[in-house]
Amino acid sequence: KLAVTVYPDQQTASKKVAARIADVIRGKQASGEKAVLGLATGVTPIRVYNELVRLHKEEGLSFKNVITFNLDEYYPMKPDAAQSYVTFMYENLFSHIDIEKANVHIPDGTLAADDVAEWCLNYEKQIEALGGLDLQILGIGRTGHIGFNEPGSAPNSGTRLVTLDDLTRADAARDFGGKANVPTKAITMGVGTIFKAREIILMAWSKKKAPIIKKAIEGEISGEVPATYLQLSDNVEFVLDEDAASDL
Ligand code: GLP
Repeated sequence: KLAVTVYPDQQTASKKVAARIADVIRGKQASGEKAVLGLATGVTPIRVYNELVRLHKEEGLSFKNVITFNLDEYYPMKPDAAQSYVTFMYENLFSHIDIEKANVHIPDGTLAADDVAEWCLNYEKQIEALGGLDLQILGIGRTGHIGFNEPGSAPNSGTRLVTLDDLTRADAARDFGGKANVPTKAITMGVGTIFKAREIILMAWSKKKAPIIKKAIEGEISGEVPATYLQLSDNVEFVLDEDAASDL
């Protein structure tokens, strides 16, 4: 049975998620190990990152033993572009904490087309070599995508180049000053990559996400809504605010 936790608002929920991330980091620190985290972009995790920055600045949470792998990046995309997930991650988290730059991994939007497949395999290998992801956080797109695993993604898919759905590009249009400027492709961890994480937390806030949250949690498991695959895993928790949970 899928674990679903509903909080009154996203601020409260974000603090709880940040506290769980901090627990993983501190637990690993205590035993002299690295914490391997899968991170997400988008509006949804911003307050979680704000809270992690606060925990670093005010409560001495260190990220020296943390290794991160981001879910996805637009393709093509220059890392220093305003819309890149590299820019997003540094602005919202990495620039404000003591993580080592070498421990940050984000899919490379500058690869030559011929190099993408090998790069993606290597991303998987790097995660595996570290013993896998301890915790993966996720948002959800209105198509039901996790990472950029759009409808049609296979449950065992790995990191790869994908074509973005029309609705996903429309939702991103504001960031790019028009849908025409939104890349048509992205590099994303696969559903299978995400599934290997020891713990997965999918977050969603606001009424806008209520219909897709209903489908993800109560709908038939199908590649048409990739987030429904999460119903098959017993280490997933959906963390919602009341608005996102309002159709359940
Ligand atoms: C983006 C990201 C996803 C994210 C989703 C929702 O396209 N690739 O990882 O979960 O869309 O975004 P938001 O949190 O802004 O609603």
